Amino acid sequence: MTKRIILDTDPGIDDSLAILLALASPEVTLEGLSVVHGNSSTNQGTINALSVLELAKAGQIPVFKGCELPLVQPSLLAPETHGDQGIGYAKLPAPQTRPQVQKGSDFLIEKIMSNPGEITLVCIGPLTNVALAVRQEPRIIRNVREVFIMGGAIRHEGNTTALAEFNSYVDPHAAHIVYHSGLPITLTPLDVTYECIFSPDDLGRLLKIDSPVTKFIADATRFYMEFHDEYQKIEGCVINDPMTLALTFLPEICDYRELYVDVDISTGVGLGNTFADFYNYEKKAPNMKVALGVRPRMFMELFLERMEKLAKSLS
Ligand code: RIB
Ligand code: CA
Repeated sequence: MTKRIILDTDPGIDDSLAILLALASPEVTLEGLSVVHGNSSTNQGTINALSVLELAKAGQIPVFKGCELPLVQPSLLAPETHGDQGIGYAKLPAPQTRPQVQKGSDFLIEKIMSNPGEITLVCIGPLTNVALAVRQEPRIIRNVREVFIMGGAIRHEGNTTALAEFNSYVDPHAAHIVYHSGLPITLTPLDVTYECIFSPDDLGRLLKIDSPVTKFIADATRFYMEFHDEYQKIEGCVINDPMTLALTFLPEICDYRELYVDVDISTGVGLGNTFADFYNYEKKAPNMKVALGVRPRMFMELFLERMEKLAKSLS
């Protein structure tokens, strides 16, 4: 039975790959996208979401513009990582379709409440929209089927500060609300995503297919690979978001632990740091499943096969 998913996303290069993977995977039905600030502004992210959907001939999927700013923190975008337009060196035609009028957080509430127990929410950006939805309509906590979150760094160093991962650092207050909300969360932190490097060889395999999809992936990830090389000496790029999406239908890619996880919202150097109580020191019940083990090539083979299939269908 296919899973009905909503992507809450800040497109962004790896977000765009997650959108393409969702469209290429018969195990999931992409019901809509809510866009959040993060890698790009919400305006630019909305344009990118519309354009990537049209690239894959899926312009019928609705896109909803969400929150422009974090709940408390000032805006922090990532042009150095994703490019000024948010999709690296890729150039896509201006979208023909337009976003829906409804706000992103209102879409999350309406979709989940009108389909009780049916909707899988996949959060691959800062959690501002999701925190607003939880505060506006707490009943979504019981009515959502499951929630997958790309974010946090548990035993892994941060990728934004030394301690904090980007999505949790950009809006730590939203992450704190969501992590402690009671939502049925599976967290995909940097601990596992940094094991999944999309390499130049992986890209070379996709480029054997001449398609607008493979050209987009090449142009977008070339920028992302240059960032990872310059800042982290990684040959390739970490594709956090498609990996998170893949866990919705291939959970065996990872191993999980039920843990109590908290987010640091103090104003010091630890802001946005996410940490798990491995020793159950605080005697608090686990608030999520955390992916801590991973089979990287199981994911990468899936991703490459699905991108090859999508590219051939659109070549
Ligand atoms: O830290 C990685 C996460 O932050 C990914 O979701 C990336 O797209 C950015 O949103
Ligand atoms: Ca993202």
